Amino acid sequence: MSGFVEKPEPIQVPGLVHLHTGKVRELYRNEAGELVMVASDRISAYDWVLPTEIPDKGRVLTQLSLWWFDQLADLLPHHVLGTEPPAGAPADWAGRTLVCKSLDMVPVECVARGYLTGSGLTEYAETRTVCGLALPEGLVDGSELPAPIFTPATKAAVGEHDENVSYEEVARQVGAETAAQLRQATLAAYSRARNIARERGIVLADTKFEFGFDGETLVVADEVLTPDSSRFWPADRWEPGHAQPSYDKQFVRDWLTSAESGWDRRSEQPPPALPQHVVDATRAKYVEAYERLTGTTWS
Ligand SMILES: Nc1ncnc2c1ncn2[C@@H]1O[C@H](COP(=O)(O)OP(=O)(O)OP(=O)(O)O)[C@@H](O)[C@H]1O
Ligand SMILES: [Mg+2]
Repeated sequence: MSGFVEKPEPIQVPGLVHLHTGKVRELYRNEAGELVMVASDRISAYDWVLPTEIPDKGRVLTQLSLWWFDQLADLLPHHVLGTEPPAGAPADWAGRTLVCKSLDMVPVECVARGYLTGSGLTEYAETRTVCGLALPEGLVDGSELPAPIFTPATKAAVGEHDENVSYEEVARQVGAETAAQLRQATLAAYSRARNIARERGIVLADTKFEFGFDGETLVVADEVLTPDSSRFWPADRWEPGHAQPSYDKQFVRDWLTSAESGWDRRSEQPPPALPQHVVDATRAKYVEAYERLTGTTWS
């Protein structure tokens, strides 16, 4: 079981057509045909969107994504046109809204990995490969890879897991030229971001990009390099051989799997509401990630 504990009712705003409720974001189209993405404070863990929100999370992640788009701007054009909420939107949308160019999306989750964990580790344990790419013997959970790899996945519906696919499969689906562009752009952006994060004491273990075409131009879309689309690990606690502490969600995971929550992850039951101390500690981690990465103070 997974999905929403409580599926939210989207807010209606005059002039906007609601398109989609994601795990975390609401997607609209405005009268100019642009996309309006609004990041909520929802948080997911263990495949559930939890019934408790993390105050400011949507704003922190939106601002972080904007900062990263800027850091990558000389490598990749991005889809952001503006950040002004439309007239008539709730005041709460300020800081969490991105007005974006509507692109012809490439239906591939473009993942780059510099470290082995998650679905990569699962595949490696069976075949010594990730997305069909051969890797050396002896790697463990959290090992740094000899070089970053492109490990694409196909997009799954809410509650399903994305499925890793080989590069050859991507080339079959989108064409060899586009596949090569996706791989090149993904690895270039990951490598840039990993170096920036590392200088700031954060290991960017892996990350997912989504791309679309604006005419002939490949443009990076969606959100980039946020804790929702990436694995960030505190560099000073990185230790291969076991699961690394998650920079942002560790308090949530630890509490949900503790006796105190009374929740059994393997049951069909939805997870309970988070207590205030877990909410506060988690909010502080998002703010810390933002502040460490950008070198600015969250306000
Ligand atoms: N510039 C763009 N043009 C067109 N579609 C876009 C653009 N940027 C992002 N998208 C799409 O908008 C959608 C954003 O939805 P969102 O990520 O919130 O939900 P989701 O992908 O269904 O679920 P999840 O919460 O698991 O990510 C995605 O389908 C993404 O591919
Ligand atoms: Mg998404």
